[in-house]
Amino acid sequence: MGYNVAIDGPAGAGKSTIAKLVAKKKGYIYVDTGAMYRGLAIHFLKKKADPEDRQAVAEACRDAEVTIGYEDGVQQIYLNGENVTGMLRTEEVGNMASKTSAIPEVREKLLELQRSLAREKDVIMDGRDIGTNILPNADVKIYLTASVETRARRRYDELKEKGTDCSLDEIARDIRERDERDMTREIAPLKKAEDAILVDSSDMTIQQVVDEICGYCR
Ligand code: DC
Repeated sequence: MGYNVAIDGPAGAGKSTIAKLVAKKKGYIYVDTGAMYRGLAIHFLKKKADPEDRQAVAEACRDAEVTIGYEDGVQQIYLNGENVTGMLRTEEVGNMASKTSAIPEVREKLLELQRSLAREKDVIMDGRDIGTNILPNADVKIYLTASVETRARRRYDELKEKGTDCSLDEIARDIRERDERDMTREIAPLKKAEDAILVDSSDMTIQQVVDEICGYCR
């Protein structure tokens, strides 16, 4: 069994930024499980599967194979052998991933991939149900959150930096909707594991969050 750090929390809380930095400092492998759901979402978009139609999505799952690899330490997602890493981070893919991740067949498909990585390697794994469901015996569990306003502002700044035209209000609305979906779904909803440490990054710098989390880890 590897040494396992689980980091869960809502969209835009900074999980991936923080987890990457902790991984580097501690020599763990960073596993971004959201990217796996996004990889499958690309498949559903290609197949024009209706995310509200469980049967259709479950059916579409059958001919999708998601695997991960690392290039210079950076996680790559392969969908049926094709590297789709560069296509993962759009709102369209994120929304499809959020909707279809509520479907049991979709979660089932990725569960063993996630657990096997944690068995074999020292990992920091980020997602929504890592501490509660995927790795209930993780050595360290973190629930990383921040206010909706802070998360919306961070995403807004990130998009502006890339030159993307966007509205702060729309981003905040999107985040609220995503939170609602991720937290209220029947299967593996986003919630803090009882034994997870709550870290609210609203008024913290990235470095402060990294230092605090590293302090809990071996
Ligand atoms: O972290 P992210 O935004 O890349 O995740 C995309 C969607 O995938 C998110 O809305 C919920 C879902 N997800 C999940 O259900 N379980 C995980 N462990 C990770 C992500």
